[in-house]
Amino acid sequence: MLERPISFFFRGQTHQVQHVAPTTTVLQFLREYTQNKARQTGTKEGCAEGDCGACTVVIGELVGEQLQLRSVNACIQFLPTLDGKALFTVEDLQHLVPSTENNLHPVQQAMVELHGSQCGFCTPGFIMSLWSMYENEAQVPSKDTVSDYISGNLCRCTGYRPILDAAQKSFDYPKAMLARQNIIDALKKIHALPALQLEYQGQQFFAPKTVDDFAALRQQYPQARIVAGSTDVGLWVTKMGRDLGDMLYIGQVQELKKIAIENHHLLIGANVSLSDALSKIAEIYPDFKELQRRFASMPIKNAGTLGGNIANGSPIGDSMPALITLDTVLRLRHGEQTRDIALEDYYLDYQKTALQAGEFVEAILIPIREKQAAFKFATYKIAKRYEQDISAVCAAVSCELDDHQVVQSIKIAFGGMAAIPKRAKHAEAVLLGQVMSAETIAAAQVAMAEDYQPLSDGRASSAYRLQVAQNCLQRFYLEKIEETPIARVDDLIALVEV
Ligand code: FAD
Ligand code: FES
Ligand code: FES
Repeated sequence: MLERPISFFFRGQTHQVQHVAPTTTVLQFLREYTQNKARQTGTKEGCAEGDCGACTVVIGELVGEQLQLRSVNACIQFLPTLDGKALFTVEDLQHLVPSTENNLHPVQQAMVELHGSQCGFCTPGFIMSLWSMYENEAQVPSKDTVSDYISGNLCRCTGYRPILDAAQKSFDYPKAMLARQNIIDALKKIHALPALQLEYQGQQFFAPKTVDDFAALRQQYPQARIVAGSTDVGLWVTKMGRDLGDMLYIGQVQELKKIAIENHHLLIGANVSLSDALSKIAEIYPDFKELQRRFASMPIKNAGTLGGNIANGSPIGDSMPALITLDTVLRLRHGEQTRDIALEDYYLDYQKTALQAGEFVEAILIPIREKQAAFKFATYKIAKRYEQDISAVCAAVSCELDDHQVVQSIKIAFGGMAAIPKRAKHAEAVLLGQVMSAETIAAAQVAMAEDYQPLSDGRASSAYRLQVAQNCLQRFYLEKIEETPIARVDDLIALVEV
């Protein structure tokens, strides 16, 4: 690999940056970086941890011949990861509208007219989330859709109602869409350049383009930190001040963006975003949908990967309990060799996994059941906010019953209950081979106390965690076996909106 500048489309042309620390964030580049005179302060810094949305920008990426536009948090994206992409900030919007008196884009005009901004600190972030929606939605979006797009933006002043109204109103004005072809052409030229490699004060950053090159570099630099969407590792830098050492970026490896059905499995490559991965899983397992909506926010899901969520192995990560109960397998790769391992065997202890030096997660394989009707599955996230909140407890249950309600197979798994995502094997043993009934479920709830001795922390006490985990099992029984309708959070939100 040859060293060359980081190249990306910015302010109407290809922009190049050299001699920067690889952990410089996109937000620092925009607001502080003087060498390239970005100094564009429309994008704000609130939390510097992906939580508030004040720093929301939109990234354009080539997908085949098309330009895909998605919102991300500039505060936790590293500048070299922009290579070959396009960066749009609130300052770009004035160039998209035919010159009018005030040069406002329809999403800005609607926010002005409907009083969607008060102190204004959050406004550029909201505008960029709404702009990505404006570019991606052909019709006036529903309130639910708007809610998804602004799930990563916090406002302390407006109470959100005027913003939701403005989001829909923006579709009433004459259209002002992004002209994409010159951007696509510019990105194609950058893509023809050799893979990016940087060295800055002894720290190396590699962004190979093929999985073979990635595997070879992983073997050559086993100590290098793999970086995917940086929605975990970004915070290690911005909040903990950690030195990441050498970095191996997976985001340019197109082969690992694959989603496919292979041998009755849904295969998700390690470079597939959470947005794409979670919606594909929810297509196959509709009970996954609520978790998909409640997982983080749209910008975090656009940047983060499912591979990163699994590899990071946080005991409160949301995807793992559900994927464990679905019998998910990880494909690990070392050089040219691959091995498959059951997801539940991947977690050995707190922040300790079965990943060997030089190995990486190449793909996630989720079985697709032929007899979906006999298969019961549900997952529940217990957190204080609907979206953009870390779970206190995350539950998942899957089972198969025969015609007499006898349990043929069962898996119960939780996040937030132990040092790793962990199955409730005592509770499962109580139910296996028995008729599933209110009595056997009650016995399994009692047995769950042998499975878990959860921690007390700021999110929940140990007793609360155990109680709510036991309740989740009962809820599964009522909803999926007895088929008693229980109000879900989505239903409650719909009621409030009515
Ligand atoms: P990165 O941050 O790039 O990497 C994470 C770790 O995985 C690193 O150790 C990295 O080296 C390793 N890694 C990445 N890819 C591979 C690979 N292919 N092979 C081996 N190792 C690899 N998580 C939840 O579960 N639920 C939530 O609701 C949630 N909300 C969040 C909200 C906010 C505001 C933020 C900032 C984070 C949130 N997260 C949440 C955590 C985070 O978004 C996820 O864990 C995400 O999936 C991490 O993926 P990534 O691609 O960003 O990984
Ligand atoms: Fe808060 Fe980036 S500054 S999300
Ligand atoms: Fe003040 Fe949103 S307008 S924080």
